[in-house]
Amino acid sequence: LGEGRLGARVPEEGPTELRLAAVAFNSMADQVVQLLANERELAADLSHRLRTPLTVLRLNTASLGEGPAADQTRTAVEQLEREVDTIIRTAREAKPQTAAAGPGAGCDAAEVVRERMAFWSALAEDEGRKWRVAGADRPVRIPVARPDLAAGLDALLGNVFRHTAEGTAFAVDVHNGEDAVIVLVSDAGTGIPDPEAAMARGRGSGSDGSTGLGLDIVRRLAESTGGDVRIGSSVLGGTEVRVWIQLDGRAPASGGHRQLRRRRPGRFAAVYSRSRSH
Ligand SMILES: Nc1ncnc2c1ncn2[C@@H]1O[C@H](COP(=O)(O)OP(=O)(O)OP(=O)(O)O)[C@@H](O)[C@H]1O
Ligand SMILES: [Mg+2]
Repeated sequence: LGEGRLGARVPEEGPTELRLAAVAFNSMADQVVQLLANERELAADLSHRLRTPLTVLRLNTASLGEGPAADQTRTAVEQLEREVDTIIRTAREAKPQTAAAGPGAGCDAAEVVRERMAFWSALAEDEGRKWRVAGADRPVRIPVARPDLAAGLDALLGNVFRHTAEGTAFAVDVHNGEDAVIVLVSDAGTGIPDPEAAMARGRGSGSDGSTGLGLDIVRRLAESTGGDVRIGSSVLGGTEVRVWIQLDGRAPASGGHRQLRRRRPGRFAAVYSRSRSH
């Protein structure tokens, strides 16, 4: 049970005390499973509330007429509806023991970057933002599922659009290294003065549409591979978010990454042992 195999139960047999302890243990395990199931159903129900306003939006987009802005809006609303469906389905289908990603479960990071940039560049044009993509012209295999990388990129690019002024330039760089792939999303905005606070899950700016989950989603994506996320300053003058995706699931052997291990051994050690136990 401690290893997350929530289906594990102990035999209810032997001397009375042992049998009673086994019965108590098993009923606790049943409770844990039930609680998790309830939480997932709650997530599904809450997501389902988005359906109604989304339906209104979708119906209204029909009357937007023609033109790139109308098309973008329709596409975005359709995407929203699909994402809400995915959330509801994922919440309801989640198995207590999520299987570790097997070989071949990854994606081509370059292709995902190009695909997401096709979406964001249309908005960039509307907002008079200059943008640049580098390193996405040939395949870059990474051990991250496609929807996860797409969600991470959307979180970072969404941040650029939400947290920097219209007209602010941004860039996406993909570096394909021997044991890691690095994705850099940088902008010419005002930067992030307190990276640690920004990275904390649930600590958004407090305004509508800021839940403070975006950077944490990206961090978990990186950490699932044994990598990490660092916020720094960009040569463009604003924020640079560096997503380190480890390729072999082992701790990196060289460069500035090692520094991080020394500075925060606890967290990295946890990531290290988790990725090893897969
Ligand atoms: N590119 C950026 N430029 C300036 N500030 C940023 C940038 N990206 C993130 N931030 C700051 O970091 C905070 C945390 O970002 P994060 O994406 O985790 O949450 P959020 O954008 O506030 O909410 P959510 O992503 O859940 O809608 C933001 O509230 C913002 O203050
Ligand atoms: Mg965000």
